[in-house]
Amino acid sequence: MKISKKNIAKPFLKWAGGKTQLIEQIEKQFPQTLKNTPFTYIEPFVGSGAVLFWILEHYPNINRAIINDINTDLTNTYDSIKFDVERLINILSIWEFEYHSISENEEKKKEYYYNKRSLFNLRSSNQTTQSALFIFLNRTCFNGLYRVNKNNEFNVPIGSYKKPQICNKENLLAVAEILQGVEILNGDFAETLKYANANSFFYFDPPYKPLNQTSSFNSYSKNEFDDTEQIRLKEFCEILEEQGHQWILSNSDVKGKDPHNNFFDDLYSSFNIFRVNARRNINANPEKRGELTELLISNIAYPHEPEFKYGLR
Ligand SMILES: C[S@@+](CC[C@H](N)C(=O)[O-])C[C@H]1O[C@@H](n2cnc3c(N)ncnc32)[C@H](O)[C@@H]1O
Repeated sequence: MKISKKNIAKPFLKWAGGKTQLIEQIEKQFPQTLKNTPFTYIEPFVGSGAVLFWILEHYPNINRAIINDINTDLTNTYDSIKFDVERLINILSIWEFEYHSISENEEKKKEYYYNKRSLFNLRSSNQTTQSALFIFLNRTCFNGLYRVNKNNEFNVPIGSYKKPQICNKENLLAVAEILQGVEILNGDFAETLKYANANSFFYFDPPYKPLNQTSSFNSYSKNEFDDTEQIRLKEFCEILEEQGHQWILSNSDVKGKDPHNNFFDDLYSSFNIFRVNARRNINANPEKRGELTELLISNIAYPHEPEFKYGLR
C-alpha cells in the first residue's frame, strides 16, 4: 500500500487500551516473513487503530488491509473519514471554535457538552454529523472514555480539559488518505475469517480481561467481553492456526496481579506467551497508572528465541 510521506496518520481518538506505547514490543514479535512478501493485514478489534496506522506506514508490502470493530459508532466514524472528510472537518472546526470561545465559562461549556451528548444519543443526525459528534465527545469527555448504558446511550460526563483539540485537520486528512486502501467492517471478530487468504496476518487487541472487578474498562459496547468471549477468541485463534494464518494477540497479564491466576497461561498453553512492560494512561487515578506487564501471545514460529521471552516470566 503506497503512503505519501507528507503526513503520517495516527489515531484520531483517545481509546481505552490504545497501543501506541506497546508497538515497539509488538514489532519484535512480528514474523520476519512479513518484511518481504505481500500479505493481507486483518485487525478484528481495531479500536483507535494505533497498530493499524503504524503497520500501514511501515509495511508497504501490505496488499490488502481489513479492519473490524463491533462498535458501530466507531466504524461509522472510520467510514465518514474515509468518504466525507472535508465535511467532517468543517463541522468539527466550527464546534472547536465555539467550544474554545466559551472555555472560561464552566456552565456554558457544560451546557454545550451535554447538548451535544443528547444529540449524539438521539442518533438521528446524518452519518457525518453523527461521526463529528462521536469525535467531539471523545475529545471533550472525561478521560476520553467510551461507555454506553444498556440502551446504547453514551453516558460519560464532561472532562476537565480547558481547550482540548477537537479538530486535528492535518491528521484527519492523513487518516482519510490511508483509509482509501482499507476495508472497514462492523461486526463480530469471528466474521473476519472469510477475509483471510494464503498469506494473512492477524493482530488482535480484544477488550482486556479485567485485572480485578473494579478495574473493568471493557465496556466499549453494549456487549460484555467476559471469560466465555475470551475462550471463544482463543478457539478462533486455533482455527487460524489450523488454516496456517499467523497471529499476535494482546491481553492483560492477570498472573502479574495474582500469581495464582493461570487463566491465559492455561488457555494459550500451546502457543507462545510473552510478558512485556506496558504503560496504561486511561486510569482516572494517577497512582494506578504505574508499570504493568501485558501479554503478547502468538502462533508464530520464531527462527531465534525472542530476546525477552523468558525475561519477565
Ligand atoms: C482494547 S480495544 C482495542 C484497542 C485498539 N487496538 C487501540 O489501539 O486503541 C477493543 C475493541 O474491541 C471491540 N469489540 C468488543 N467486542 C467485540 C467483538 N465481539 N468483535 C469485534 N470487536 C469487539 C470494542 O468495541 C473495542 O473497540
